[in-house]
Amino acid sequence: MLAAVMRSVPTENLEVSDDITLRDVGPGDVKVKVTHSGVCHSDLSAMNGTIPQAPPAVLGHEGAGIVTDVGDGVTHVSPGDHVIIAFSPPCGTCAYCTGRGQPQLCMNGLIMMSMNPQFRQGDEVIGSMTGCGTFAEETIVPSIAAIKIDADVPLDVAALIGCGVTTGVGAALNTAKVTPGSSVVVIGAGGVGIAAIQGARIAGAAEIVAVDLHDGKLDRAKAFGATHGVTPDQLEDVKTEITGGEGFDFALECIGNPVTMRQAYDLIRRGGTACVVGVGRAEETFELSAFEMFFGEKTLVGSMYGGADVRTDFNRFLRLYKTGRLDLEGMISRRIKIGEVNDALHALGDADVVRQVIEFD
Ligand code: APR
Ligand code: ZN
Repeated sequence: MLAAVMRSVPTENLEVSDDITLRDVGPGDVKVKVTHSGVCHSDLSAMNGTIPQAPPAVLGHEGAGIVTDVGDGVTHVSPGDHVIIAFSPPCGTCAYCTGRGQPQLCMNGLIMMSMNPQFRQGDEVIGSMTGCGTFAEETIVPSIAAIKIDADVPLDVAALIGCGVTTGVGAALNTAKVTPGSSVVVIGAGGVGIAAIQGARIAGAAEIVAVDLHDGKLDRAKAFGATHGVTPDQLEDVKTEITGGEGFDFALECIGNPVTMRQAYDLIRRGGTACVVGVGRAEETFELSAFEMFFGEKTLVGSMYGGADVRTDFNRFLRLYKTGRLDLEGMISRRIKIGEVNDALHALGDADVVRQVIEFD
């Protein structure tokens, strides 16, 4: 079958091969015919070494499809079911999944995702990004990663829930806990930022400021609920206009850059919440003074997978979609074939791109 393999790190391009195979389905496995996969900035981050991912690996971690086979012991899905693949699924039994109520931080699930690489090229074992490998026509994931959805949900839209939408909407609703009537600034209006803007809108924020380098992204952000769209140089003015200079109630950083993470902290008022959604490099840092943490009493919080419980949130977000409150179709700017995946990765910064979706035949 066709799949896009990352052969080395860093690399500019994936190798699209037509001779990738899958190992046999084992106990607890679910085989999925991937119908659609989103192209996320995190795929590019794996290629440039920002997100650690050992090659060789089939990339892609934002996908949906149809179950084609299940291993022994799998009861919650069967062939024909439609599923979204979760890249950090909850094991269901550890402290994070139970008492702590933070299943997005389950380590067992992450380990299970990478334990048994599913792809082969000849005799060579090929791994996959976070165990998903959705840049392939078919994949095998642990059953906890196959989240069943209603068959009437279009699978292109469903794919976006697998990463970007859950990450952004979840960050606003679950992690930052944006409140009705609040002021929100979202830095970075790509796929994740647009999802965060929609999350803030759903939460009832009064003002939602989108910040991006590209005017085109700002215009689009307004269509998803941003009340203001500014380039970074206009930020101080809009902060003064909306908050009298005090600062926003909430800031969501959706880029993964230490400079904009620090900017998020500076943009909020005393007592406000800055939520870091973007993923930066392990060796990059930003500074906080020893005094300002005390004096500002600001909350600085990271958000992993939108603080979501994928077992309930995937379908919760799909209900918002079905009732017209979450625009997912509008987020799909381009539909491509797997052979065009490198073009799509290089186009992530383009002004007219929110999400690009690979369609498999
Ligand atoms: N100031 C403002 N906007 C910026 C800046 C900056 N300094 N640098 C980049 N941007 C904008 C880009 O123009 C782009 O619109 O940030 C946006 C990032 O969007 P995408 O490339 O589509 O990335 P996305 O898939 O949304 O992911 C964003 O979230 O999940 C993580 O790993 C992911 O760190 C990445 C982040
Ligand atoms: Zn992603």
